[in-house]
Amino acid sequence: MKRVLILGDLPGDGAERLAGRCEVEVHHGEGLGEEGVRRLVPGFHGLLTLLIHPVSERVLAAADRLEVVANCAVGVDNIDLAAAQRHGVIVTNTPDVLTADTADLTWGLILAVLRGIVSGDRYLRRGDFHGWRPKLLLGRSVGSVVLGVVGPGRIGQAVLARAAAFGARTLYHGPSRLPEGRERELETEWCGFEELLAASDVVSLHVPLNDETHHLMDARALRSMKKGSYLVNTARGPLVDEAALAEAVASGHLAGAGLDVFEAEPAVNTRLLELDSVVLLPHIGSATVETRTRMADCCFEDLHTVLVEDGVPARAVVKPVSRGG
Ligand code: DGY
Repeated sequence: MKRVLILGDLPGDGAERLAGRCEVEVHHGEGLGEEGVRRLVPGFHGLLTLLIHPVSERVLAAADRLEVVANCAVGVDNIDLAAAQRHGVIVTNTPDVLTADTADLTWGLILAVLRGIVSGDRYLRRGDFHGWRPKLLLGRSVGSVVLGVVGPGRIGQAVLARAAAFGARTLYHGPSRLPEGRERELETEWCGFEELLAASDVVSLHVPLNDETHHLMDARALRSMKKGSYLVNTARGPLVDEAALAEAVASGHLAGAGLDVFEAEPAVNTRLLELDSVVLLPHIGSATVETRTRMADCCFEDLHTVLVEDGVPARAVVKPVSRGG
């Protein structure tokens, strides 16, 4: 029987189901780092990783039997994909199943920053609420703002689609334009990156993390954002220079930010922690029972396809040539 290592405690019964067909070992997966993963992988044919597990060239070189890595996330920035290709290892991820929940949480952050939902809660709990006042905690009317979406992939488009319900005008930026019919359906317009930063009241990031997008929102880009606007990030922390963001909010250039992801998770820039107009969440974009169960199921299905059926999953982002990819 082929051997599978599961790094993490996942919802659903996928591990039990796979156990009939493979030898399954579950490790809690906490605090492993590259060296921890490297030490565990020898002898395993399949590996289920979370986004906190680095699968580097060193890990892949140590994985003498590895055929497949099923990453329980849509983002695959924790995996060296070129090295996986060289080592003939299939890599799969979990697209689609988390799109709606991540878009919903993005809107949760947009509403939270525009309407002071979290700061209002803190205000009341501090005992500062002494009655209704005409100017108490005035936010921005959601229907009056321009939302700029950077990265019109699955999640970016789902965020744009939800804007119509709030009556918000939208712009988007990506390397290429969406088909005209799709733009019409989403009631959105393409524009250049700088133009989007200058015109948007809320900028929301939905691009993958790679060498080109690392610190996409650096001090210069943050300065290019409209005065009094907000940055929302539910994609990956290192897209944003956190120190520069804290400075942009503290100086009053930005009115606030909504962040679900951080540069060096689980650490958060201490200046951001002190800013009341910044809403911070612990990377929960896809965290619903339904979605996290579906994500785990995708991984177990893909492990089964490769290790039991000797196939190549449709979700594979790396398909080694030797497997007909
Ligand atoms: C992902 O899938 O990449 C998210 O960050 C976790 O759902």
